[in-house]
Amino acid sequence: MRKPIIAGNWKMNKTAAECRALITELLPKVANAKCDVVVCVPFTDIALAAELTAGSNVVVGAQNVAWADSGAFTGEISADMLKEAGATYVILGHSERRQYFGETDASVNKRLVQALKNDLKPIVCVGELLAEREGGKTEEVCKRQVEGAFDGISAADAAKTVIAYEPVWAIGTGKTATDEQADETIGYIRSVVKALYGDAVADGMRIQYGGSMNAKNVAGLMAKPQIDGGLIGGASLKAEDFSIIVNTAK
Ligand code: 13P
Repeated sequence: MRKPIIAGNWKMNKTAAECRALITELLPKVANAKCDVVVCVPFTDIALAAELTAGSNVVVGAQNVAWADSGAFTGEISADMLKEAGATYVILGHSERRQYFGETDASVNKRLVQALKNDLKPIVCVGELLAEREGGKTEEVCKRQVEGAFDGISAADAAKTVIAYEPVWAIGTGKTATDEQADETIGYIRSVVKALYGDAVADGMRIQYGGSMNAKNVAGLMAKPQIDGGLIGGASLKAEDFSIIVNTAK
């Protein structure tokens, strides 16, 4: 049995003061969660979020990590910095990084190597564009992104990684993949992991769905056998909505 994992991706939202208010409201609402709960906050909120969640069942994640240890990389944040600030997880290869900031399968791979080397738990995002789904290319795209991200990664390290399947056309659009579409594509992604690493890693790996997941559609998605949780954008910014999602994931 895979333990579900619900992660909020706050994206570029919440100042420190807003972070304090949201986490303070959230903690009692999710205290009895039966899944792993993560909040992936902006860099400037990590230390505060770690302090507020200390001793609770909620852990903190970042939204990216540099592929170098340190040095002349203006605008990047190192794994050491994230860990010292209190991050446990890190999102890698989010479609917004790929779309707006030039992230590629190769750079996602380098960041994944770095996260694993530093014991940050990676959440690797994959997913097709609308035109790719309409063109029947969903599987091809997801396969390329998974194989690219995991290039050279050992089975032991792959086993520590979470994948998030986020169809780009479903992100922030209110247009969720149907339960069947999400389950089918996640099952396909698991078969790609199986081809790379074998049954044990593939069967143990948690693969989340992301894309307009909310308090209303979470039950249907979580009822599907392949879907092991969610990566939640908009609905993670409200304690009430996020807690309903968390408490539905068992
Ligand atoms: P929304 O839940 O806002 O669609 O965002 C999904 C997402 O991109 C999470 O990483």
